[in-house]
Amino acid sequence: MSKKFDVVVIGAGPGGYVAAIRAGQLGLTVACIESQAYADPKGAVRLGGTCLNEGCIPSKALLQSSELFDQAGHSFVMHGISSENLKMDVAAMVRRKDNIVTQLTSGIRGLFKKYKVTLLPGHGKFVGRTEDFWQIDVDGETVEAKHVIVATGSKARHLDGIPVDNKIICDNIGALGFDKAPKRLGVIGAGVIGLELGSVWKRLGAEVTVLEALPDFLAAADQAVAKEAWKVFTQKQGLNILLSVNIKKVTQSKKSVIVEYEAEDESRTLECDRLIVSVGRIPNTDKVGAEVVDLKLDDKGRIDVNEYCETNLPNVWAVGDVIRGPMLAHKGMEEGVMVAERIAGQAGHVNYDVIPWVIYTHPEIAWVGKTEQQLKNEGIEYRVGQIPFAANGRALGQGDTTGFVKVLADAKTDRILGVHVIGNNASELIAEAVVAMEFGASSEDIARICHAHPTLSEALHEAMLAVSKRSLHF
Ligand code: FAD
Ligand code: NAI
Repeated sequence: MSKKFDVVVIGAGPGGYVAAIRAGQLGLTVACIESQAYADPKGAVRLGGTCLNEGCIPSKALLQSSELFDQAGHSFVMHGISSENLKMDVAAMVRRKDNIVTQLTSGIRGLFKKYKVTLLPGHGKFVGRTEDFWQIDVDGETVEAKHVIVATGSKARHLDGIPVDNKIICDNIGALGFDKAPKRLGVIGAGVIGLELGSVWKRLGAEVTVLEALPDFLAAADQAVAKEAWKVFTQKQGLNILLSVNIKKVTQSKKSVIVEYEAEDESRTLECDRLIVSVGRIPNTDKVGAEVVDLKLDDKGRIDVNEYCETNLPNVWAVGDVIRGPMLAHKGMEEGVMVAERIAGQAGHVNYDVIPWVIYTHPEIAWVGKTEQQLKNEGIEYRVGQIPFAANGRALGQGDTTGFVKVLADAKTDRILGVHVIGNNASELIAEAVVAMEFGASSEDIARICHAHPTLSEALHEAMLAVSKRSLHF
Protein backbone atom coordinates (compact mmCIF):
# COMPACT_ATOMS: atom_id res chain seq x y z
CA MET A 1 0.00 0.00 0.00
CA SER A 2 1.30 3.47 -0.84
CA LYS A 3 2.20 5.93 1.89
CA LYS A 4 -0.43 8.59 2.56
CA PHE A 5 0.22 12.14 3.82
CA ASP A 6 -1.88 15.22 4.54
CA VAL A 7 0.67 17.23 2.58
CA VAL A 8 3.36 16.34 0.05
CA VAL A 9 5.74 19.11 -0.97
CA ILE A 10 7.69 18.74 -4.22
CA GLY A 11 11.03 20.56 -3.87
CA ALA A 12 13.04 21.44 -0.77
CA GLY A 13 14.09 25.02 -1.57
CA PRO A 14 13.05 27.95 0.65
CA GLY A 15 9.45 27.77 -0.56
CA GLY A 16 9.19 23.99 -0.12
CA TYR A 17 11.20 23.32 3.04
CA VAL A 18 9.51 26.18 4.91
CA ALA A 19 6.05 24.98 3.82
CA ALA A 20 6.95 21.47 5.03
CA ILE A 21 8.27 22.67 8.39
CA ARG A 22 5.22 24.90 9.00
CA ALA A 23 2.88 22.04 8.04
CA GLY A 24 4.74 19.80 10.51
CA GLN A 25 4.45 22.46 13.23
CA LEU A 26 0.70 22.56 12.64
CA GLY A 27 0.38 18.81 13.24
CA LEU A 28 -0.16 17.73 9.62
CA THR A 29 1.53 14.60 8.30
CA VAL A 30 3.97 15.87 5.71
CA ALA A 31 6.58 14.63 3.26
CA CYS A 32 9.00 16.65 1.17
CA ILE A 33 10.46 15.32 -2.08
CA GLU A 34 13.88 16.52 -3.25
CA SER A 35 15.84 15.24 -6.23
CA GLN A 36 19.16 17.09 -6.23
CA ALA A 37 22.37 16.17 -4.48
CA TYR A 38 23.99 19.44 -5.54
CA ALA A 39 27.65 19.26 -4.45
CA ASP A 40 27.19 16.59 -1.79
CA PRO A 41 30.34 14.44 -1.85
CA LYS A 42 28.36 11.27 -1.04
CA GLY A 43 25.62 12.01 -3.57
CA ALA A 44 22.89 12.27 -0.92
CA VAL A 45 20.15 14.81 -1.69
CA ARG A 46 20.75 18.22 -0.19
CA LEU A 47 18.00 20.41 1.16
CA GLY A 48 17.67 24.17 0.74
CA GLY A 49 17.30 24.36 -3.03
CA THR A 50 18.95 27.01 -5.17
CA CYS A 51 19.09 29.43 -2.27
CA LEU A 52 21.30 27.41 0.03
CA ASN A 53 23.26 25.44 -2.54
CA GLU A 54 23.76 27.67 -5.58
CA GLY A 55 22.26 31.07 -4.79
CA CYS A 56 21.73 33.40 -1.85
CA ILE A 57 23.96 31.79 0.74
CA PRO A 58 27.08 30.88 -1.27
CA SER A 59 27.00 34.20 -3.14
CA LYS A 60 26.78 36.17 0.10
CA ALA A 61 29.67 34.16 1.58
CA LEU A 62 31.85 35.07 -1.41
CA LEU A 63 30.67 38.69 -1.33
CA GLN A 64 31.75 38.92 2.32
CA SER A 65 35.21 37.42 1.75
CA SER A 66 35.91 39.50 -1.33
CA GLU A 67 34.65 42.66 0.38
CA LEU A 68 37.03 42.12 3.30
CA PHE A 69 39.90 41.64 0.85
CA ASP A 70 38.91 44.80 -0.97
CA GLN A 71 38.68 46.76 2.28
CA ALA A 72 42.03 45.49 3.45
CA GLY A 73 43.55 46.64 0.17
CA HIS A 74 41.82 49.98 -0.13
CA SER A 75 40.12 51.18 3.07
CA PHE A 76 42.23 49.95 5.99
CA VAL A 77 44.84 52.59 5.26
CA MET A 78 42.48 55.43 6.25
CA HIS A 79 42.16 53.83 9.69
CA GLY A 80 45.95 53.77 10.03
CA ILE A 81 46.15 50.03 9.38
CA SER A 82 48.77 48.89 6.92
CA SER A 83 48.16 45.75 4.92
CA GLU A 84 51.21 45.15 2.82
CA ASN A 85 51.71 41.91 0.92
CA LEU A 86 48.01 41.18 0.99
CA LYS A 87 47.18 37.82 -0.60
CA MET A 88 43.95 36.08 -1.44
CA ASP A 89 43.65 32.32 -1.18
CA VAL A 90 40.67 31.73 -3.47
CA ALA A 91 40.57 28.00 -2.69
CA ALA A 92 40.23 28.79 1.04
CA MET A 93 37.50 31.32 0.30
CA VAL A 94 35.55 28.75 -1.75
CA ARG A 95 36.08 26.09 0.96
CA ARG A 96 34.64 28.46 3.57
CA LYS A 97 31.62 29.05 1.32
CA ASP A 98 31.17 25.28 0.84
CA ASN A 99 31.35 24.69 4.61
CA ILE A 100 28.63 27.28 5.24
CA VAL A 101 26.43 25.59 2.64
CA THR A 102 27.01 22.15 4.20
CA GLN A 103 26.23 23.48 7.67
CA LEU A 104 22.97 25.09 6.58
CA THR A 105 21.71 22.29 4.36
CA SER A 106 22.30 19.73 7.10
CA GLY A 107 20.59 22.11 9.54
CA ILE A 108 17.42 21.73 7.49
CA ARG A 109 17.67 17.94 7.76
CA GLY A 110 17.70 18.47 11.53
CA LEU A 111 14.64 20.72 11.31
CA PHE A 112 12.82 18.10 9.22
CA LYS A 113 13.45 15.55 12.02
CA LYS A 114 12.34 18.03 14.69
CA TYR A 115 9.05 18.81 12.92
CA LYS A 116 8.46 15.23 11.71
CA VAL A 117 8.79 15.98 8.01
CA THR A 118 9.46 12.79 6.03
CA LEU A 119 12.16 13.36 3.43
CA LEU A 120 11.55 11.46 0.20
CA PRO A 121 14.73 11.60 -1.91
CA GLY A 122 14.02 11.42 -5.63
CA HIS A 123 12.20 13.09 -8.46
CA GLY A 124 8.54 13.88 -7.78
CA LYS A 125 5.80 14.08 -10.41
CA PHE A 126 2.02 13.85 -10.57
CA VAL A 127 0.80 10.52 -11.93
CA GLY A 128 -2.90 10.60 -11.14
CA ARG A 129 -5.68 11.05 -8.65
CA THR A 130 -8.11 8.94 -6.61
CA GLU A 131 -11.23 10.47 -5.11
CA ASP A 132 -9.46 12.11 -2.15
CA PHE A 133 -5.77 11.85 -2.88
CA TRP A 134 -3.26 13.03 -5.42
CA GLN A 135 -0.79 10.37 -6.50
CA ILE A 136 2.83 11.38 -6.79
CA ASP A 137 5.54 9.19 -8.21
CA VAL A 138 8.93 9.40 -6.48
CA ASP A 139 11.48 7.51 -8.53
CA GLY A 140 9.07 4.63 -9.20
CA GLU A 141 7.28 4.59 -5.86
CA THR A 142 3.84 6.18 -5.47
CA VAL A 143 2.88 8.28 -2.48
CA GLU A 144 -0.55 9.80 -1.90
CA ALA A 145 -1.39 13.26 -0.64
CA LYS A 146 -4.53 15.17 0.29
CA HIS A 147 -2.67 18.37 -0.54
CA VAL A 148 0.30 18.90 -2.84
CA ILE A 149 2.53 21.96 -2.74
CA VAL A 150 4.62 22.36 -5.89
CA ALA A 151 7.84 24.19 -4.98
CA THR A 152 10.14 23.09 -7.78
CA GLY A 153 11.86 26.48 -8.14
CA SER A 154 13.79 27.72 -11.13
CA LYS A 155 16.96 27.26 -13.13
CA ALA A 156 19.25 29.67 -15.00
CA ARG A 157 18.04 30.78 -18.41
CA HIS A 158 20.64 30.13 -21.11
CA LEU A 159 20.95 31.83 -24.49
CA ASP A 160 20.79 30.03 -27.83
CA GLY A 161 24.26 29.42 -29.23
CA ILE A 162 26.03 30.01 -25.90
CA PRO A 163 26.79 26.57 -24.45
CA VAL A 164 27.20 26.77 -20.68
CA ASP A 165 29.77 24.22 -19.45
CA ASN A 166 30.11 25.75 -15.97
CA LYS A 167 33.87 25.72 -16.37
CA ILE A 168 34.62 28.51 -18.83
CA ILE A 169 31.12 29.69 -19.76
CA CYS A 170 29.14 29.65 -16.55
CA ASP A 171 25.76 30.37 -15.07
CA ASN A 172 25.40 30.93 -11.33
CA ILE A 173 26.60 27.40 -10.58
CA GLY A 174 30.07 27.67 -12.12
CA ALA A 175 30.47 31.35 -11.26
CA LEU A 176 30.30 30.53 -7.54
CA GLY A 177 33.28 28.20 -7.70
CA PHE A 178 36.07 29.61 -9.90
CA ASP A 179 39.40 28.18 -8.74
CA LYS A 180 41.06 31.56 -9.19
CA ALA A 181 40.01 35.08 -10.14
CA PRO A 182 39.93 35.20 -13.94
CA LYS A 183 42.12 37.87 -15.47
CA ARG A 184 39.33 39.01 -17.79
CA LEU A 185 35.72 38.23 -16.88
CA GLY A 186 32.79 38.84 -19.22
CA VAL A 187 29.25 38.95 -17.85
CA ILE A 188 26.09 38.89 -19.97
CA GLY A 189 23.26 40.63 -18.07
CA ALA A 190 23.61 43.51 -15.60
CA GLY A 191 20.93 42.14 -13.27
CA VAL A 192 21.29 41.02 -9.70
CA ILE A 193 23.58 38.04 -10.34
CA GLY A 194 25.72 39.93 -12.85
CA LEU A 195 26.32 42.76 -10.39
CA GLU A 196 26.84 40.60 -7.29
CA LEU A 197 29.13 38.00 -8.85
CA GLY A 198 30.78 40.58 -11.11
CA SER A 199 31.65 42.48 -7.90
CA VAL A 200 33.09 39.39 -6.20
CA TRP A 201 35.57 38.67 -8.99
CA LYS A 202 36.33 42.33 -9.65
CA ARG A 203 37.37 42.76 -6.00
CA LEU A 204 39.67 39.77 -6.37
CA GLY A 205 41.43 41.30 -9.34
CA ALA A 206 39.44 40.45 -12.48
CA GLU A 207 38.92 43.03 -15.17
CA VAL A 208 35.13 42.83 -15.49
CA THR A 209 32.98 43.79 -18.49
CA VAL A 210 29.20 43.52 -18.14
CA LEU A 211 27.07 43.49 -21.30
CA GLU A 212 23.44 44.49 -20.77
CA ALA A 213 20.68 44.40 -23.39
CA LEU A 214 18.48 47.13 -21.90
CA PRO A 215 19.19 50.84 -22.32
CA ASP A 216 18.49 51.52 -18.62
CA PHE A 217 20.68 50.41 -15.75
CA LEU A 218 18.82 48.70 -12.87
CA ALA A 219 15.48 49.57 -14.40
CA ALA A 220 13.48 48.08 -11.50
CA ALA A 221 15.18 50.26 -8.87
CA ASP A 222 14.36 53.87 -8.06
CA GLN A 223 16.16 55.90 -10.71
CA ALA A 224 17.99 58.07 -8.15
CA VAL A 225 19.42 54.88 -6.64
CA ALA A 226 20.25 53.42 -10.06
CA LYS A 227 22.08 56.64 -10.98
CA GLU A 228 24.13 56.60 -7.77
CA ALA A 229 24.89 52.89 -8.20
CA TRP A 230 26.01 53.45 -11.78
CA LYS A 231 28.39 56.19 -10.65
CA VAL A 232 29.92 54.08 -7.88
CA PHE A 233 30.19 50.83 -9.86
CA THR A 234 31.58 52.33 -13.05
CA GLN A 235 33.61 55.32 -11.86
CA LYS A 236 34.84 54.33 -8.39
CA GLN A 237 35.01 50.57 -8.68
CA GLY A 238 35.90 50.28 -12.36
CA LEU A 239 33.22 47.81 -13.45
CA ASN A 240 32.92 48.25 -17.20
CA ILE A 241 29.14 48.13 -17.82
CA LEU A 242 27.81 48.56 -21.35
CA LEU A 243 24.10 49.13 -22.01
CA SER A 244 21.94 48.54 -25.12
CA VAL A 245 24.13 45.64 -26.14
CA ASN A 246 23.05 43.09 -28.71
CA ILE A 247 24.96 39.81 -28.36
CA LYS A 248 25.66 38.32 -31.80
CA LYS A 249 27.92 35.33 -31.29
CA VAL A 250 30.01 33.61 -28.66
CA THR A 251 32.91 31.35 -29.59
CA GLN A 252 35.26 29.47 -27.34
CA SER A 253 38.85 28.55 -27.99
CA LYS A 254 41.23 26.68 -25.71
CA LYS A 255 42.49 29.94 -24.30
CA SER A 256 39.56 32.31 -24.20
CA VAL A 257 35.97 33.19 -25.03
CA ILE A 258 35.18 35.71 -27.73
CA VAL A 259 31.89 37.58 -27.47
CA GLU A 260 30.82 39.41 -30.60
CA TYR A 261 28.23 42.09 -29.94
CA GLU A 262 26.75 45.35 -31.20
CA ALA A 263 26.68 48.51 -29.12
CA GLU A 264 26.35 52.16 -30.10
CA ASP A 265 25.74 51.12 -33.72
CA GLU A 266 29.05 49.37 -34.10
CA SER A 267 30.21 45.75 -34.04
CA ARG A 268 32.63 44.96 -31.26
CA THR A 269 34.32 41.98 -29.64
CA LEU A 270 35.13 41.14 -26.06
CA GLU A 271 37.81 38.58 -25.30
CA CYS A 272 37.65 37.06 -21.84
CA ASP A 273 38.92 34.08 -19.84
CA ARG A 274 35.59 33.28 -18.20
CA LEU A 275 32.05 34.28 -19.16
CA ILE A 276 29.06 34.43 -16.81
CA VAL A 277 25.62 34.23 -18.41
CA SER A 278 23.13 35.80 -15.97
CA VAL A 279 20.06 36.73 -17.98
CA GLY A 280 17.28 35.65 -15.65
CA ARG A 281 15.80 32.34 -14.54
CA ILE A 282 13.06 30.03 -15.79
CA PRO A 283 10.54 28.07 -13.68
CA ASN A 284 10.94 24.29 -13.28
CA THR A 285 7.60 23.12 -14.61
CA ASP A 286 8.64 20.73 -17.33
CA LYS A 287 9.05 17.48 -15.36
CA VAL A 288 6.36 17.56 -12.68
CA GLY A 289 3.62 15.74 -14.60
CA ALA A 290 1.64 18.97 -15.08
CA GLU A 291 0.23 17.63 -18.34
CA VAL A 292 -0.91 14.37 -16.67
CA VAL A 293 -3.25 16.19 -14.27
CA ASP A 294 -3.92 19.33 -16.37
CA LEU A 295 -2.12 21.69 -14.02
CA LYS A 296 -2.50 25.10 -15.64
CA LEU A 297 0.55 27.20 -16.53
CA ASP A 298 0.49 30.93 -17.30
CA ASP A 299 1.79 32.63 -20.45
CA LYS A 300 5.33 32.69 -19.02
CA GLY A 301 5.36 28.96 -18.30
CA ARG A 302 4.91 29.41 -14.54
CA ILE A 303 2.27 27.55 -12.54
CA ASP A 304 -0.85 29.72 -12.60
CA VAL A 305 -2.00 30.64 -9.07
CA ASN A 306 -4.30 33.09 -7.33
CA GLU A 307 -3.28 35.39 -4.45
CA TYR A 308 -3.35 32.44 -2.03
CA CYS A 309 -1.14 30.28 -4.25
CA GLU A 310 -4.03 27.99 -5.18
CA THR A 311 -3.70 26.41 -8.64
CA ASN A 312 -6.56 25.41 -10.96
CA LEU A 313 -6.62 21.95 -9.27
CA PRO A 314 -8.31 21.31 -5.92
CA ASN A 315 -5.83 21.04 -3.02
CA VAL A 316 -2.86 21.68 -5.31
CA TRP A 317 -0.81 24.73 -4.40
CA ALA A 318 2.40 26.24 -5.75
CA VAL A 319 4.94 28.58 -4.14
CA GLY A 320 8.27 30.30 -4.81
CA ASP A 321 10.11 30.77 -8.10
CA VAL A 322 7.78 28.41 -9.96
CA ILE A 323 4.92 30.97 -9.78
CA ARG A 324 4.42 34.70 -10.51
CA GLY A 325 6.17 37.44 -8.57
CA PRO A 326 9.79 38.19 -7.80
CA MET A 327 12.17 35.24 -7.62
CA LEU A 328 13.26 35.85 -4.06
CA ALA A 329 13.84 33.34 -1.28
CA HIS A 330 11.94 35.32 1.38
CA LYS A 331 8.92 35.70 -0.93
CA GLY A 332 8.86 31.90 -1.43
CA MET A 333 9.20 31.30 2.32
CA GLU A 334 6.27 33.60 3.12
CA GLU A 335 4.17 31.77 0.56
CA GLY A 336 5.19 28.42 2.06
CA VAL A 337 3.98 29.56 5.49
CA MET A 338 0.75 30.97 4.05
CA VAL A 339 -0.11 27.78 2.18
CA ALA A 340 0.65 25.46 5.12
CA GLU A 341 -1.51 27.62 7.37
CA ARG A 342 -4.39 27.71 4.89
CA ILE A 343 -4.22 23.91 4.52
CA ALA A 344 -4.52 23.72 8.33
CA GLY A 345 -7.63 25.94 8.17
CA GLN A 346 -5.90 29.13 9.28
CA ALA A 347 -5.97 32.53 7.54
CA GLY A 348 -2.36 32.82 6.30
CA HIS A 349 -1.66 35.62 3.84
CA VAL A 350 1.22 37.36 2.08
CA ASN A 351 1.33 41.12 1.65
CA TYR A 352 2.89 41.32 -1.80
CA ASP A 353 3.13 45.12 -1.57
CA VAL A 354 5.86 45.02 1.03
CA ILE A 355 8.36 42.47 -0.19
CA PRO A 356 11.84 43.94 0.13
CA TRP A 357 14.53 43.69 -2.55
CA VAL A 358 18.23 43.69 -1.71
CA ILE A 359 21.25 43.70 -4.00
CA TYR A 360 24.33 42.76 -1.99
CA THR A 361 26.89 44.80 -3.87
CA HIS A 362 28.97 47.42 -2.12
CA PRO A 363 27.27 49.75 -1.47
CA GLU A 364 24.24 47.56 -0.88
CA ILE A 365 20.98 48.50 -2.54
CA ALA A 366 17.64 47.82 -0.85
CA TRP A 367 14.11 48.93 -1.37
CA VAL A 368 10.50 48.25 -0.51
CA GLY A 369 7.32 49.63 -2.04
CA LYS A 370 7.03 51.98 -4.99
CA THR A 371 9.77 53.80 -6.85
CA GLU A 372 9.46 57.49 -7.70
CA GLN A 373 8.98 56.66 -11.38
CA GLN A 374 6.12 54.26 -10.51
CA LEU A 375 4.36 56.94 -8.44
CA LYS A 376 4.71 59.41 -11.32
CA ASN A 377 3.33 56.90 -13.82
CA GLU A 378 0.41 56.10 -11.53
CA GLY A 379 -0.34 59.80 -11.00
CA ILE A 380 0.04 59.54 -7.21
CA GLU A 381 1.10 62.75 -5.48
CA TYR A 382 3.99 62.25 -3.11
CA ARG A 383 6.60 64.00 -0.98
CA VAL A 384 10.27 63.00 -0.84
CA GLY A 385 12.68 62.92 2.09
CA GLN A 386 16.29 62.13 1.19
CA ILE A 387 19.36 62.08 3.44
CA PRO A 388 22.94 61.26 2.37
CA PHE A 389 25.03 58.97 4.57
CA ALA A 390 27.67 61.73 4.42
CA ALA A 391 25.49 63.51 7.02
CA ASN A 392 25.46 60.49 9.35
CA GLY A 393 28.00 60.28 12.19
CA ARG A 394 28.15 56.49 12.26
CA ALA A 395 28.78 56.29 8.52
CA LEU A 396 31.62 58.79 8.90
CA GLY A 397 33.08 56.79 11.79
CA GLN A 398 32.91 53.65 9.66
CA GLY A 399 34.63 55.47 6.81
CA ASP A 400 31.86 54.60 4.42
CA THR A 401 29.59 57.49 3.49
CA THR A 402 28.46 56.44 0.02
CA GLY A 403 24.77 56.66 -0.76
CA PHE A 404 21.55 57.84 0.79
CA VAL A 405 18.14 56.97 2.19
CA LYS A 406 15.11 58.14 0.22
CA VAL A 407 11.56 58.03 1.55
CA LEU A 408 8.46 58.51 -0.59
CA ALA A 409 5.26 59.38 1.28
CA ASP A 410 1.74 60.10 0.10
CA ALA A 411 1.27 63.87 -0.29
CA LYS A 412 -2.17 63.81 1.31
CA THR A 413 -2.12 61.01 3.91
CA ASP A 414 1.66 60.95 4.58
CA ARG A 415 1.53 57.15 4.44
CA ILE A 416 4.93 55.71 3.45
CA LEU A 417 4.75 54.44 -0.13
CA GLY A 418 8.35 53.46 -0.74
CA VAL A 419 11.78 53.47 0.89
CA HIS A 420 15.03 53.22 -1.09
CA VAL A 421 18.47 52.81 0.42
CA ILE A 422 21.86 52.68 -1.23
CA GLY A 423 24.70 52.36 1.24
CA ASN A 424 26.48 50.25 3.80
CA ASN A 425 24.09 47.83 5.55
CA ALA A 426 21.11 48.78 3.39
CA SER A 427 20.03 45.11 3.67
CA GLU A 428 19.51 45.49 7.42
CA LEU A 429 18.18 49.07 7.36
CA ILE A 430 15.35 48.18 5.01
CA ALA A 431 13.74 45.96 7.67
CA GLU A 432 12.52 49.00 9.60
CA ALA A 433 10.89 50.37 6.46
CA VAL A 434 9.21 47.02 5.82
CA VAL A 435 7.74 46.97 9.33
CA ALA A 436 6.60 50.58 8.99
CA MET A 437 4.88 49.90 5.67
CA GLU A 438 3.33 46.63 6.84
CA PHE A 439 1.64 48.56 9.64
CA GLY A 440 0.60 51.40 7.32
CA ALA A 441 2.81 53.94 9.12
CA SER A 442 3.20 57.55 8.02
CA SER A 443 6.58 59.30 7.76
CA GLU A 444 5.49 61.28 10.83
CA ASP A 445 5.00 58.02 12.81
CA ILE A 446 8.59 56.97 12.19
CA ALA A 447 9.94 60.51 12.57
CA ARG A 448 8.59 60.49 16.14
CA ILE A 449 10.30 57.21 17.11
CA CYS A 450 13.59 57.44 19.03
CA HIS A 451 16.49 55.92 17.05
CA ALA A 452 19.76 54.98 18.78
CA HIS A 453 22.71 57.30 18.28
CA PRO A 454 25.07 56.95 16.53
CA THR A 455 23.59 54.46 14.08
CA LEU A 456 22.98 54.22 10.36
CA SER A 457 19.28 53.92 11.19
CA GLU A 458 19.36 57.62 12.08
CA ALA A 459 19.68 58.30 8.34
CA LEU A 460 16.29 56.61 7.87
CA HIS A 461 14.91 58.63 10.78
CA GLU A 462 16.25 61.86 9.27
CA ALA A 463 14.82 60.96 5.85
CA MET A 464 11.40 60.55 7.50
CA LEU A 465 11.84 63.99 9.08
CA ALA A 466 12.95 65.35 5.71
CA VAL A 467 9.59 64.40 4.18
CA SER A 468 8.11 67.31 6.15
CA LYS A 469 11.25 69.39 5.60
CA ARG A 470 12.45 69.27 9.18
CA SER A 471 15.51 67.05 9.18
CA LEU A 472 17.71 68.05 12.09
CA HIS A 473 21.19 67.10 10.89
CA PHE A 474 21.04 67.97 7.20
P1 FAD B 1 14.50 26.55 -5.39
O1 FAD B 1 15.35 27.15 -4.35
O2 FAD B 1 14.96 26.58 -6.79
O3 FAD B 1 14.28 25.04 -4.93
C1 FAD B 1 13.54 24.14 -5.68
C2 FAD B 1 14.01 22.74 -5.33
O4 FAD B 1 13.12 21.82 -5.93
C3 FAD B 1 15.39 22.41 -5.86
O5 FAD B 1 16.21 21.91 -4.84
C4 FAD B 1 15.15 21.35 -6.92
O6 FAD B 1 16.19 20.36 -6.96
C5 FAD B 1 13.87 20.72 -6.43
N1 FAD B 1 13.07 20.10 -7.50
C6 FAD B 1 12.72 20.65 -8.68
N2 FAD B 1 11.92 19.80 -9.36
C7 FAD B 1 11.78 18.71 -8.58
C8 FAD B 1 11.06 17.49 -8.73
N3 FAD B 1 10.29 17.26 -9.78
N4 FAD B 1 11.15 16.57 -7.75
C9 FAD B 1 11.92 16.81 -6.64
N5 FAD B 1 12.60 17.94 -6.44
C10 FAD B 1 12.52 18.87 -7.41
N6 FAD B 1 17.02 35.40 -3.35
C11 FAD B 1 17.00 36.20 -2.27
O7 FAD B 1 15.94 36.44 -1.70
N7 FAD B 1 18.15 36.75 -1.77
C12 FAD B 1 19.35 36.53 -2.34
O8 FAD B 1 20.36 37.05 -1.87
C13 FAD B 1 19.40 35.71 -3.48
N8 FAD B 1 20.58 35.45 -4.08
C14 FAD B 1 20.61 34.61 -5.15
C15 FAD B 1 21.84 34.38 -5.77
C16 FAD B 1 21.91 33.57 -6.88
C17 FAD B 1 23.25 33.32 -7.53
C18 FAD B 1 20.73 32.93 -7.36
C19 FAD B 1 20.78 32.00 -8.54
C20 FAD B 1 19.50 33.15 -6.76
C21 FAD B 1 19.43 34.00 -5.66
N9 FAD B 1 18.23 34.29 -5.03
C22 FAD B 1 18.19 35.13 -3.96
C23 FAD B 1 16.96 33.69 -5.49
C24 FAD B 1 16.59 32.48 -4.61
O9 FAD B 1 17.64 31.55 -4.64
C25 FAD B 1 15.31 31.86 -5.10
O10 FAD B 1 14.29 32.83 -5.19
C26 FAD B 1 14.85 30.74 -4.18
O11 FAD B 1 15.82 29.75 -4.05
C27 FAD B 1 13.55 30.12 -4.71
O12 FAD B 1 13.12 29.16 -3.82
P2 FAD B 1 12.18 27.97 -4.32
O13 FAD B 1 11.93 27.10 -3.12
O14 FAD B 1 11.03 28.49 -5.05
O15 FAD B 1 13.04 27.16 -5.39
P1 NAI C 1 17.89 39.47 -13.57
O1 NAI C 1 16.52 39.38 -14.10
O2 NAI C 1 18.14 40.14 -12.28
O3 NAI C 1 18.82 40.20 -14.63
C1 NAI C 1 19.00 39.71 -15.92
C2 NAI C 1 19.57 40.83 -16.78
O4 NAI C 1 19.97 40.28 -17.99
C3 NAI C 1 18.52 41.90 -17.08
O5 NAI C 1 19.05 43.17 -16.81
C4 NAI C 1 18.23 41.68 -18.56
O6 NAI C 1 17.86 42.86 -19.23
C5 NAI C 1 19.54 41.15 -19.04
N1 NAI C 1 19.46 40.37 -20.27
C6 NAI C 1 18.50 39.49 -20.63
N2 NAI C 1 18.78 38.96 -21.84
C7 NAI C 1 19.95 39.51 -22.24
C8 NAI C 1 20.76 39.36 -23.39
N3 NAI C 1 20.43 38.53 -24.37
N4 NAI C 1 21.89 40.09 -23.47
C9 NAI C 1 22.25 40.94 -22.49
N5 NAI C 1 21.52 41.13 -21.36
C10 NAI C 1 20.39 40.41 -21.25
O7 NAI C 1 18.44 37.97 -13.58
P2 NAI C 1 19.70 37.30 -12.90
O8 NAI C 1 20.74 38.30 -12.58
O9 NAI C 1 20.03 36.15 -13.78
O10 NAI C 1 19.10 36.76 -11.55
C11 NAI C 1 17.97 35.89 -11.59
C12 NAI C 1 17.09 36.14 -10.42
O11 NAI C 1 17.67 35.57 -9.25
C13 NAI C 1 16.87 37.61 -10.08
O12 NAI C 1 15.88 38.19 -10.86
C14 NAI C 1 16.46 37.51 -8.66
O13 NAI C 1 15.09 37.21 -8.60
C15 NAI C 1 17.27 36.34 -8.13
N6 NAI C 1 18.46 36.84 -7.44
C16 NAI C 1 18.27 37.60 -6.32
C17 NAI C 1 19.33 38.12 -5.64
C18 NAI C 1 19.09 38.99 -4.46
O14 NAI C 1 17.96 39.02 -3.98
N7 NAI C 1 20.09 39.69 -3.95
C19 NAI C 1 20.72 37.85 -6.05
C20 NAI C 1 20.79 37.07 -7.26
C21 NAI C 1 19.69 36.58 -7.90
